[in-house]
Amino acid sequence: MGCHRILLRLLCFLFFLHSSSLPFASPLCPPVQRDALLLFKNSFLLNRMASDSCDWYGHPKTNSWNKSVDCCSWEGVTCDSVTGNIVDLDLACSRLRGALHSNSSLFLLRHLQNLNLFGNNFIGSRIPPNLSVFAELTHLNLSGSSFAGWKIQSSQCLFRISQH
Ligand SMILES: *[C@@H]1O[C@H](CO)[C@@H](O)[C@H](O)[C@H]1NC(C)=O
Ligand SMILES: *[C@@H]1O[C@H](CO)[C@@H](O)[C@H](O)[C@H]1NC(C)=O
Ligand SMILES: *[C@@H]1O[C@H](CO)[C@@H](O)[C@H](O)[C@H]1NC(C)=O
Ligand SMILES: *[C@@H]1O[C@H](CO)[C@@H](O)[C@H](O)[C@H]1NC(C)=O
Repeated sequence: MGCHRILLRLLCFLFFLHSSSLPFASPLCPPVQRDALLLFKNSFLLNRMASDSCDWYGHPKTNSWNKSVDCCSWEGVTCDSVTGNIVDLDLACSRLRGALHSNSSLFLLRHLQNLNLFGNNFIGSRIPPNLSVFAELTHLNLSGSSFAGWKIQSSQCLFRISQH
């Protein structure tokens, strides 16, 4: 009996080793993009009132971001299933408060297709012209986020811009 159990454990362990190196596993979030997200997170304070336009004052999604967990599974973050690049960042109603500058690490996420910053408080920041680095962006939602200007120059992209 005891012998069987040990054998079973050994088999399970070998299977685990094997399956963790399977070539078809989803790619992990690129470390450069993970670090960019963490820097972005740390450039803001969390403030409940920053999401006062949201139901229940939103929810601080970035609180759960943990460097020891693959960032593709962080709340609000979606990666491309083939390349692992971050393609979708949905931080709507996340209680972020602070300025968004043109040197923000956000602009290192070059593969974004969908960016939603709805319902935060960027305290009257001008919308940085750097948004044009997102060559693959198709959806941009900056509604209710206290931006000041909203002139975006881009000839290649179709933006769905909303602001009030
Ligand atoms: C991050 O995840 C690790 C491993 O799951 C856990 O031990 C640690 O407490 C987490 N840290 C935070 C700040 O949640
Ligand atoms: C933002 O754009 C400015 C002016 O084009 C440039 O100097 C700066 O390096 C850009 N910042 C980032 C993070 O890409
Ligand atoms: C980014 O730019 C702002 C405004 O120009 C500046 O106050 C801040 O120190 C800069 N941050 C970094 C990390 O360079
Ligand atoms: C912006 O995002 C919010 C929250 O996800 C959503 O309710 C709203 O409909 C979006 N606006 C547009 C124009 O897509």
